[in-house]
Amino acid sequence: MGEALANGWLNQGRDPAGIWVVEPNQKSARKLIAKGVRFYLAPDQLPPEDTPNVIIFAVKPQVMDEVVPSYARFASTTMFASIAAGRTIEYLETILGIDAAIVRVMPNTPAAVSRGISCAFANNNVSSTQREICNELIEAVGEFHWLESESQIDAVTAVSGSGPAYVFLLSECLAKAGIKLGLSKNLAERLGRVTISGSGELLHQSTEDVVTLRQNVTSSGGTTEAALSLLMSDDRLETLLYDAIQKAFKRSKELAH
Ligand SMILES: NC(=O)c1ccc[n+]([C@@H]2O[C@H](COP(=O)([O-])OP(=O)(O)OC[C@H]3O[C@@H](n4cnc5c(N)ncnc54)[C@H](OP(=O)(O)O)[C@@H]3O)[C@@H](O)[C@H]2O)c1
Repeated sequence: MGEALANGWLNQGRDPAGIWVVEPNQKSARKLIAKGVRFYLAPDQLPPEDTPNVIIFAVKPQVMDEVVPSYARFASTTMFASIAAGRTIEYLETILGIDAAIVRVMPNTPAAVSRGISCAFANNNVSSTQREICNELIEAVGEFHWLESESQIDAVTAVSGSGPAYVFLLSECLAKAGIKLGLSKNLAERLGRVTISGSGELLHQSTEDVVTLRQNVTSSGGTTEAALSLLMSDDRLETLLYDAIQKAFKRSKELAH
């Protein structure tokens, strides 16, 4: 996810020397290093005379305890943004100080192709100028929205953070159905994959609303209507997805601290 963000900024034409990557495993950062970003193996290697405008924590939540304290020395000058699931503003303030400017962001993996959607919540120390910087940085990898309360992050996590996995599962299900109906594995997988990606692109480019796009495929008495009569009867698919999303929502709340 951190690499996706950095690639978004590089694709926008930002100076690679202005992007500093801190990562204990040089191999993991090799593609970014090749593009000219400044690289450090540990935060104590950062030049003491330079102050970054923004520090983004893009490590796994369980690594945050080890990583965040090393950056507390920048708290009076720098805005912190964290994309770590479940790590609350309160958690970050406990380590970075209650005066630190902190933004909590929930992105999703289509950010890797600059088609992500991210939502964020900022604490009261984040200035309007810093919010603008945040808009610019995150819009480099897709759409961006500010949340009204931090608790909304759990719903965003359940819908769009985890959402790409639901869509990929749909692609897998389409492929499995094709195989059961006699198609080769290879062709069925292409049908699943290209149907999902093509539909996503149509949804992205079209000005029609999503219901109209669905209805455009559905002729009265035809094949699509036959399938939808099962998926939509008693809101079957909607209920199943809502139950699944509620589980993700509950888990996001459980993980928060
Ligand atoms: N993936 C998603 O769909 C998604 C969606 C929303 C939010 N997030 C959040 O984004 C964060 C990153 O997730 P990810 O999927 O991008 O994980 P990831 O692919 O494992 O990336 C984490 C990166 O952090 C590096 N790292 C490990 N220890 C470090 C340390 N001490 N200092 C600096 N870097 C260190 C890892 O290096 P190595 O490769 O060498 O281990 C890796 O490059 C997580 O907190 C997650 O909750 C992810």
